[in-house]
Amino acid sequence: MILFFSGTGNSYHVAKSVGDSIGEVVCPLVDCSPEDLTYTGNSLGLVFPIYSWGVPPIVINYLKNLNDSFVNDALRKPIWVIMVCGDETGKAPDMLRKVLAKRGLTLTAGWSVQAPNNYVILPGFDVDSKQVEEEKLSKIKNLCDIISRKLNNREFEFNFVEGPLARLKTKLVYPLFKRWGIFPSKWGYTDACVSCGKCASACPVGNITMSFNVKESKSFPQWGDNCESCLACYHVCPRHAVKYGNATRKKGQYYFGPNK
Ligand SMILES: Cc1cc2nc3c(=O)[nH]c(=O)nc-3n(C[C@H](O)[C@H](O)[C@H](O)COP(=O)(O)O)c2cc1C
Repeated sequence: MILFFSGTGNSYHVAKSVGDSIGEVVCPLVDCSPEDLTYTGNSLGLVFPIYSWGVPPIVINYLKNLNDSFVNDALRKPIWVIMVCGDETGKAPDMLRKVLAKRGLTLTAGWSVQAPNNYVILPGFDVDSKQVEEEKLSKIKNLCDIISRKLNNREFEFNFVEGPLARLKTKLVYPLFKRWGIFPSKWGYTDACVSCGKCASACPVGNITMSFNVKESKSFPQWGDNCESCLACYHVCPRHAVKYGNATRKKGQYYFGPNK
């Protein structure tokens, strides 16, 4: 089975593509409680985006809370990961290994796949140019086919693009991201909002509700405190109306498609 998390759809696309090729069920981890999860299939695959050269906190918490019976079944079969990044993983593979080791599990194989960048919050970071976006998208299918073939043939390997200064980036920046990466109260919308509700539907953790504004006789998004910083709400907006303070004012948008 393949457990995945995705914000703007890249990781879902990769999980689905590999899942279809190797005949494993694809489950959004936000929809299957780790306490109740039952192991199915011939291997456990994990697919998720890289966040600040690390593993998204939601994935770490999920693995920590997997029930013992699932873990016992997972022990006997291969465990592999595909880390879907804009550019590089840093030492996220080691981070994942440590989390798995705490449950007595060992990573059998792993790959990183470069996909269009969706990080836009900090100054200096933006989506890729159209040309880079298209180049990355055109390579993903082939990469998924290669990974699927290796999984089918049990050719297990580790092939991550960790990038330069990987240890430093993961050790220094990831903890800052966890602490200061997102302030949910900074999310909002501009006058361009047309109350379509796409942001609320795209939020993988249901952190956005459309709340009715009596004065305008329309509903507008309201963000709760449970933001995973996936940026789906920002990128999916057809009017570029979702904003994170002033940080996203001049930034681009990228949305592959549904995230589950
Ligand atoms: C909060 C956040 C942090 C990110 N950090 C990194 C990073 O450290 N390295 C990288 O290559 N990409 C980084 N990205 C880009 C995503 O990993 C990349 O765009 C990924 O394909 C998104 O997957 P998704 O569409 O499944 O959400 C980051 C994205 C977000 C939202």
